[in-house]
Amino acid sequence: MTTADQDVPKPLSSADRATPQITSAAAPSALRLMLALEDFEAPAKRYIPRPIFGYVSGGVERNKSLAWNRSAFDDLALVPRMLINVSQRSQKTTLFGRTYDSPFGIAPMGGTSLARFQGDTALATAAAASNIPMILSGASLTRLEKVRAAAGATTWFQAYLPGDAQAITELVERVALAGYDTLVLTVDIPVGANRENNVRNGYNTPLRPSLRLAWDCLMRPSWLMGTALRTYITQGMPHFENMGKRTPLVSRTAVRERANRDHLNWEHVALMRRLWKGRLIIKGILDKADVPPARDNGVDGIIVSNHGGRQLDSATAPLRVLPGIVAAAGDMTIMMDSGIRRGTDVLKALALGAKFVFVGRPMLYAAAVAGETGVRHAIRLLRDEVDRDMALVGINTLADMTPERLMDARGFDGIRFPGRQT
Ligand SMILES: Cc1cc2nc3c(=O)[nH]c(=O)nc-3n(C[C@H](O)[C@H](O)[C@H](O)COP(=O)(O)O)c2cc1C
Repeated sequence: MTTADQDVPKPLSSADRATPQITSAAAPSALRLMLALEDFEAPAKRYIPRPIFGYVSGGVERNKSLAWNRSAFDDLALVPRMLINVSQRSQKTTLFGRTYDSPFGIAPMGGTSLARFQGDTALATAAAASNIPMILSGASLTRLEKVRAAAGATTWFQAYLPGDAQAITELVERVALAGYDTLVLTVDIPVGANRENNVRNGYNTPLRPSLRLAWDCLMRPSWLMGTALRTYITQGMPHFENMGKRTPLVSRTAVRERANRDHLNWEHVALMRRLWKGRLIIKGILDKADVPPARDNGVDGIIVSNHGGRQLDSATAPLRVLPGIVAAAGDMTIMMDSGIRRGTDVLKALALGAKFVFVGRPMLYAAAVAGETGVRHAIRLLRDEVDRDMALVGINTLADMTPERLMDARGFDGIRFPGRQT
């Protein structure tokens, strides 16, 4: 191996200097083996009971969209430039008037506090310490006021709302009162998804007490003591706190309120726009035809998303529709999620016009493995990858990450084969 092949310690980038964080070397022993976001999944699976892990990891029906979310990234190759002075590179990104230390944040995920004691707060405070946004899920088990108070302004709130003016008004007022300035409305769940994997794994919300559930929990003693019992002893029975009627997490009979989501339409977005003074973002758009109504209704940004492949199976991968949506967006901010695992994924999404991206499952797994410390480690890993990849691609700013830095991973530059479209 030549010297050039070896890992040479690099000077800290400006983003690194901004926030003191744990480094791989300083991390607790379990985290030393976590070298990439994908590494958190296996230990999380060993920690979390089977039905809950199945709920987090699963997609829907045949998991087509889940698989396409990854293959879309694999279909793009990077084309680096050489002999560019990249010593001044920075991944800082200004979004809605605030400068974050990286171009990625944490996607909203219900069930986070099922996977780890005070999981929602752990994700939010890790994001705050790393100066990236974290979106608290409307389906979370922690009161939205509590998370905002613990983590501050980097926390956004995501709502699931019925098409009902009173419910919308009440929630918008509550979110504003809690101090949030960014509200995300998720729009890709007019009805519940066909999550066969949840039925097969015995997962339900609320969880239904059963011998099978008891057995699955007993098989995970660290989780049972460290998350379930600890939560119960310190806080009592967790409830779904931020979505309609308060509903307990475990109950033989309780039913979670999901009525009238299929009524939700652009008129409700217009109502939200009138009521909500902060940034309004819509999550779950996949068709560029939905961009003009969003803009006309005063929406500030869109998260292009197929919900991590968890709603409509065979819904397209967000990366594939991103360029069209960006072209239709004008000055509206376009972000994306679904399948981001690597720094190179972040750069590919940015090259196709995303301003910012969000990461889901790996952050929840990181919380399961080591709470806030685990999430900070995961953020650090992805941040380091983005920094390293920027240097290797030959760019100093994320604005330099243009489509010219990409090519079809199976294509040959300058050569067209007869009969082949691309
Ligand atoms: C366990 C879990 C719970 C989720 N809960 C929500 C939610 O409450 N609200 C929402 O808008 N999206 C939810 N999502 C979707 C994520 O916000 C995000 O779109 C998706 O996870 C991104 O894909 P990735 O996991 O491949 O990164 C959830 C995803 C997971 C894995």
